[in-house]
Amino acid sequence: MKQKYIAEPYRIKMVEPIRETTKEERIELLKNAGYNPFSLKSDDVYIDLLTDSGTGAMSQEQWAAMMIGDEAYAGSRSFYRLEAAVRTIMGYEYFIPVHQGRGAEKVFLPQLVTKPGMFYIANIHFDTTRAHVELAGARAIDCVVPDCYDIEHYHDFKGNMCLSCLEETIIEKGKENIAGLIMTVTNNSAGGQPVSMANIKEVRKIADRFGLKVIIDGARYAENAFFIKERELGYQDKSIKEIVFEMCSYGDAFLMSAKKDGLVNMGGIIAIKNDKELFDKCRTYVVPYEGFPTYGGLNGRDMDALAVGLMEALDERYLRHRIDQVRYLGDRLRDAGVPIQFPVGGHAVFVDCKAFAPHIPFYEFPALAVTNAIYIEAGVRAVEIGSLLLGRDPDTHKNKESKMELMRLTIPRRLYTYNHLDVVADAVIHVYEHRHELKGYTFEYESSILRHFTSTFKPID
Ligand code: F0G
Repeated sequence: MKQKYIAEPYRIKMVEPIRETTKEERIELLKNAGYNPFSLKSDDVYIDLLTDSGTGAMSQEQWAAMMIGDEAYAGSRSFYRLEAAVRTIMGYEYFIPVHQGRGAEKVFLPQLVTKPGMFYIANIHFDTTRAHVELAGARAIDCVVPDCYDIEHYHDFKGNMCLSCLEETIIEKGKENIAGLIMTVTNNSAGGQPVSMANIKEVRKIADRFGLKVIIDGARYAENAFFIKERELGYQDKSIKEIVFEMCSYGDAFLMSAKKDGLVNMGGIIAIKNDKELFDKCRTYVVPYEGFPTYGGLNGRDMDALAVGLMEALDERYLRHRIDQVRYLGDRLRDAGVPIQFPVGGHAVFVDCKAFAPHIPFYEFPALAVTNAIYIEAGVRAVEIGSLLLGRDPDTHKNKESKMELMRLTIPRRLYTYNHLDVVADAVIHVYEHRHELKGYTFEYESSILRHFTSTFKPID
């Protein structure tokens, strides 16, 4: 018998109680948090779908691996075990551990910015990636396929780079002004949408033509490989491991927030295919920023848990369940008429808040309004991915208007059950049925970098 959504491929061996609050309490808690869900205590959240980053559950094998963690400052056994795992999976020569994805960005991205006025081009820069591009003195240009913005219609690979837009941009800006091309797999800001192998291959070809480097932002590399296997002709009989290996073969470097598909709570990776000079530069910079190059801000036990997690993420049954959970939530919402980015991506359901609350303009942050409403309704914490996150133009300081106003319901790995997702679906559907009552927000305090994390708001009456 084939199940529509496969059951958890694990038993639950350890439990963590979660607290429920009343609606009256949540109204007060949210007000005290400045109407910014990032400022809520996790203890005041019933189901936490803020992020899938470092929030998943580790396996018994990972916990066991932590016991053999070697805490040597330099050259620990844990480092070599992790290096071996990275080499096996990615096939790259050089590896440096870092404390998380943005550590990798901070160390790596400035190395390719050799003069003022340079650009990185990505299928969409994740927000910290964009921040590090800008901090390095460059500018970030996104060239995702237009399919990405065709929210309610099905496309196999909405995360792809738009190849014509990429070529035009390189020619317009001048290849000598391009620091590198970034392929975010899956494409988080596009809705966790996958990127096809054919697209990665074509980006490689374009990069070769112009003498540019391809950097894979591989936070969700295994989920991307799962979609390739499911949707791209010629990959049905390949293993996830083979697909990942091929994906990586088209890159020059691989930056990773291991808090996602590394199945750990903390960790990051810089892997470089064969450029020794670039590796040496990164190794020099990692010391003051992250730590000695054989630990990069991680404990030996973190590195051992990651070495195991990277392998576990390639397990197809695990991935099927993971993606099924996301699909389950997406299907429940769509069946009730809630507008979502369709099909759902790998790690989250993205609710289209432009369609959900069209009466709220972008500068009053419709996705924040929906996010706050579902917290009040059911204690579910989601996150705004829209004009609030996009921030201001670094040159004109004007509020930028995001093409999409999304609320991300991000599902942590191996943490919640389908029953939890029912609570989430019921809350979103309830808010959708009362959407005309939603109100926008204005800033009470606006922070200057990555403002969505720490700003405070007030509702507009
Ligand atoms: N790249 C991508 C595609 C990401 O999704 C993230 C983080 C990073 C880089 C930065 O990694 O957090 O380990 O420093 N995404 C998290 C999220 C925060 O919620 O989507 P980090």
